[in-house]
Amino acid sequence: MPIKIPIFNNKQQRKDSFYDSEGTIPGHIAIIMDGNGRWAEKRSMPRIYGHKEGVSALTKIVEAAVKCKVKMLTLYAFSTENWKRPKSEIDYILRLPKEFLHIYLPDLISNNVRISTIGDMKDLPASTSEAVQYAMDRTRDNDGLQLNIALNYGSRHEIVGAIKNILTDINNSALSLDELDEQKFSGYLYTEGLPEPDLLIRTGGEKRLSNFLLWQLAYTEFWFTDILWPDFSQEEFFRAMEEYQRRQRRYGGI
Ligand code: IPE
Ligand code: IPE
Ligand code: MG
Repeated sequence: MPIKIPIFNNKQQRKDSFYDSEGTIPGHIAIIMDGNGRWAEKRSMPRIYGHKEGVSALTKIVEAAVKCKVKMLTLYAFSTENWKRPKSEIDYILRLPKEFLHIYLPDLISNNVRISTIGDMKDLPASTSEAVQYAMDRTRDNDGLQLNIALNYGSRHEIVGAIKNILTDINNSALSLDELDEQKFSGYLYTEGLPEPDLLIRTGGEKRLSNFLLWQLAYTEFWFTDILWPDFSQEEFFRAMEEYQRRQRRYGGI
């Protein structure tokens, strides 16, 4: 189904955007895809049904991002705290990346999408990490939308891991204390080399970060909606982008 792409015509702002010289589209959008469980519970269905529908919402948003030429989309799929959930729900959620990629990898490849991940892959089931690694290998040379999937991601875990690696490098004289600055520190995070998000979207009504990209979101614009993730539509996604265009980013200046 062809999607209607809105005309983003507010060109005087966003000159600072990482990718978009016209300054109209946020270069990097991060999304906390929240509300799947409540969506299912409202329908008297098991929570996993909400996660299944959440994948459908995700495909629509990826499609919209490709069509709008967003350069990077980072999606929070499973947090380091989500291990607190019942095993059956965890198992279901962690099977979804493989199922999603099994169905959509050919489409992603033909749309020039590059898959990557942030998070601690070593604790994931092998079938999940292998499916994701296969997709990363197959899409490595694509230079369209970069789709970062945050899997077993937690910002505090990431920051502590970075500090450990920094100390190791200092001990090995691979890094000196004087050299360490914000840019060097960023290079020790999972998001090494990636631009910081321009826009953060959280669905599901909660107004918190839930341990997502604490360092990277320092100057990101936030957009919250009560809509539960399975109901999140391309129109809402465009609404968030339009709202972003009306923001004035000052980065501490005037
Ligand atoms: C977000 O939906 C998906 C994951 C955390 C994996 P939830 O499962 O948190 O849904 P709610 O917030 O309970 O409705
Ligand atoms: C954040 O949602 C994690 C993901 C969307 C993957 P949660 O549902 O885990 O967040 P809390 O528990 O409401 O803060
Ligand atoms: Mg939730």
